[in-house]
Amino acid sequence: VSENQPYRTAFHFQPPQNWLNDPNGPMYYGGVYHLFYQYNPYGAVFGNRMIWAHSISYDLINWIHLNHAIEPTEPFDINSCWSGSVTILPGNRPVILYTGVDANNYQVQNLATPKNLSDPFLREWVKFSKNPIMTPPNGIKVNEFRDPTTAWRGLDGKWRVIIGSELNNHGMAILYQSEDFVSWTKYQHPLYISEETGMWECPDFYPVSINSTNGVDTSVQNPSVKHVMKASFNSHDYYTLGNYDSQMERFISESDFTGTSLDLRYDYGKFYASKTFFDNVKNRRILWGWVNESDSTEDDIEKGWSGLQSIPRRVWLDKSGKQLLQWPVEEIETLRDSQVSIHGKKLSSGAVFELSGITAAQADVEVFFEVPELEEAEFMDPTGVDPQLFCGKENASGNGRLGPFGLLTLASKDLTEQTAIFFRVFRGPRRYIVLLCSDQSRSSLREEVDKTTFGSFVDIDPRLEKISLRSLIDHSIVESYGGEGRTCITTRVYPMLASDEGMHLYLFNNGSSSVVISRLDAWSMKRAKINGKESLRYRA
Ligand code: FRU
Repeated sequence: VSENQPYRTAFHFQPPQNWLNDPNGPMYYGGVYHLFYQYNPYGAVFGNRMIWAHSISYDLINWIHLNHAIEPTEPFDINSCWSGSVTILPGNRPVILYTGVDANNYQVQNLATPKNLSDPFLREWVKFSKNPIMTPPNGIKVNEFRDPTTAWRGLDGKWRVIIGSELNNHGMAILYQSEDFVSWTKYQHPLYISEETGMWECPDFYPVSINSTNGVDTSVQNPSVKHVMKASFNSHDYYTLGNYDSQMERFISESDFTGTSLDLRYDYGKFYASKTFFDNVKNRRILWGWVNESDSTEDDIEKGWSGLQSIPRRVWLDKSGKQLLQWPVEEIETLRDSQVSIHGKKLSSGAVFELSGITAAQADVEVFFEVPELEEAEFMDPTGVDPQLFCGKENASGNGRLGPFGLLTLASKDLTEQTAIFFRVFRGPRRYIVLLCSDQSRSSLREEVDKTTFGSFVDIDPRLEKISLRSLIDHSIVESYGGEGRTCITTRVYPMLASDEGMHLYLFNNGSSSVVISRLDAWSMKRAKINGKESLRYRA
């Protein structure tokens, strides 16, 4: 394993070594945030004996690694303990539902409970003696039945949970019900079945308030909420909004999943198998997602690790009711260190301007752009335009009228290597169109790295508000939030020249019209304490 680790992150969650994937069972319990995650203790690649690793935190930023929570030991999970969720039962009793890959390689659902509820770290978990509690139903492939959600309790007092599955290319959420959380009955029809998608992994189903940015408990059902259905397929996390009809036991979506760029996604870059939980201390719903590598497997092995968790994000419904908004949890701001600010600076056509005074490889940048010459915008008919493909073609080095303008992150001094996070603004048939791109094409001189460019539209009207971008830059990851959390793009970057000290951060404008940085605040970020071993005592 390499000693030289320029790509390890400073404030993103990662274990000291080896492979990580999905976040599992996030929760708040006894004053402590818990994060479990899919982990291969035996190497930097996915494995055939996956376990639930476990870490805890007081602030979602600094973490203490604990012993593994669940490992393959029994016939019902001997070939892996796969993804699942936590539900907190009445009386403040957390339970884990997880997928076991059993001795026959069937996917089954299992239950585990804490050994000692008075240990706020919940270090030890006991598997239920009568596992499995759900086995693949008739007609469902035995290897397409996994990833139980957090359960919710209906008005009739019964518990419900959904499991990801698929039938003839219809991804779906199979619904189970239970009176006692132990014996579960499959409901006659799925809670939702999509037109045409792949197998649904890691579904998530939860209410969001219509008139408030606060989160609500997963069991809340009343006219003041809408429901979110999230499904992971085609390497992306798609969601749709709708209503949960609890009488009919159906989720009525406002628009079906198509698996195309028309679908809503949490993130238009790398972000998968995510999961939310309700944090009742701060009344917010928090989203975690797995961000995988874009480096080669050989390089992952050489580095000795693979995979990150995103910065935990608060998630709530936009005022428009048409989409979710996301924002890094406020606790991340405690890592902010030295700051630079800019007010009212013009970026003329062709400008490249270095933002010095902060650590370019470890930064939090928030910028608001103003576009004074909106009437200069080129025309675009967005019908049929795939924004990701568009960003790949019309990259940062090209020039339009309004944009590309934005940030050049993780850049070498001579700009040979650069990851451009930028906007383009167009005039559409009815309104202005804003596009956010994350251009990896020049991110690294190394050839084996996947440099796919990402992009999506941002639903803002530049006549009424400034075009904002917040990027969290952390050595080999850039997490960007466009339009105050309307469009997120996360990317992984492995620059060769831009070593730690040699990293630079620039603002640029390649459009023919000038733009104005109406406000910019950027901070060096401190390193979070993400410890190799349990090293803090419980602070009573
Ligand atoms: C999603 C997934 C889940 C499965 C887990 C195994 O990334 O494939 O469906 O439970 O990872 O680690």
